[in-house]
Amino acid sequence: MSLVTIKKLWKSYGDNVVLENINLEIKEGEFCTLVGPSGCGKTTFLKMLLGQESPSRGTFLLEGKAFPSEPGVERGIVFQRYSVFPHLSVLENVMLGIELEESKFFGRLFGKQRTRAKERAMDMLEAVGMADAAEKYPSALSGGMQQRLSIAQSLVKNPKILLLDEPFGALDPGIRADMHELILSLWRKNNLTIVMVTHDLHESFYLGTRLLVFDKVHTDARFPNAYGAQITYDIPVGKTQKALLEEIEQSIHEEIQ
Ligand SMILES: Nc1ncnc2c1ncn2[C@@H]1O[C@H](COP(=O)(O)OP(=O)(O)OP(=O)(O)O)[C@@H](O)[C@H]1O
Ligand SMILES: [Mg+2]
Repeated sequence: MSLVTIKKLWKSYGDNVVLENINLEIKEGEFCTLVGPSGCGKTTFLKMLLGQESPSRGTFLLEGKAFPSEPGVERGIVFQRYSVFPHLSVLENVMLGIELEESKFFGRLFGKQRTRAKERAMDMLEAVGMADAAEKYPSALSGGMQQRLSIAQSLVKNPKILLLDEPFGALDPGIRADMHELILSLWRKNNLTIVMVTHDLHESFYLGTRLLVFDKVHTDARFPNAYGAQITYDIPVGKTQKALLEEIEQSIHEEIQ
């Protein structure tokens, strides 16, 4: 069974049709990347997957059941703008996710439960290479480190689906490459399903197993809001495509030199 099933999904804000007739199945373990022009509804789509927005029409199923309307722990999200709390240390930021999940009323754990939460948070920080920075505050972190922290915050809750909204856009190329390796290793190790929005096609081909392109098929200059974006391409990305991309890049690189 597919993890996510979307049928004839429409999303509008007032008379602004953002997405129209989206049909999509996402299987467990897929790494979908999503590209499309600015304003075409990529973030809106992720928000629906997260449960922050509801569809205007259509079917949206998670493991065959109606999609929970509240953001749930089964879906973690990392937005480009960091979601860390400045007054909490790195470790406290990661622990907060566990505390809010396990102690919905107080948002705080005590005794053994707290010790266990601390261990889980430290393990996660270790996994994203941030253990040494556990006691630091977010303002003392570089962009790449803040992004690692956001990923740790999401992953510590063991989500089934990790939703990434242009997570690496603001990072320097070197740090970006490190983050690519990190996300690939976390994806493999934790058997995650990932849906990631990016503006970078190279990133799509390098990271993803499937590329989805969102775009408007119909436009009418008189009624710019009348039509929404659809999925115009749905391309499986295999080893062949990745190798081809590498070959093309290599030849461009050699030509430049
Ligand atoms: N809460 C909202 N209320 C009304 N309109 C909204 C809301 N959120 C998004 N929109 C509109 O929906 C459309 C799609 O926005 P969205 O942020 O999903 O685009 P995007 O593809 O993520 O763009 P970008 O690449 O620039 O991030 C835009 O026209 C935007 O103005
Ligand atoms: Mg967006």
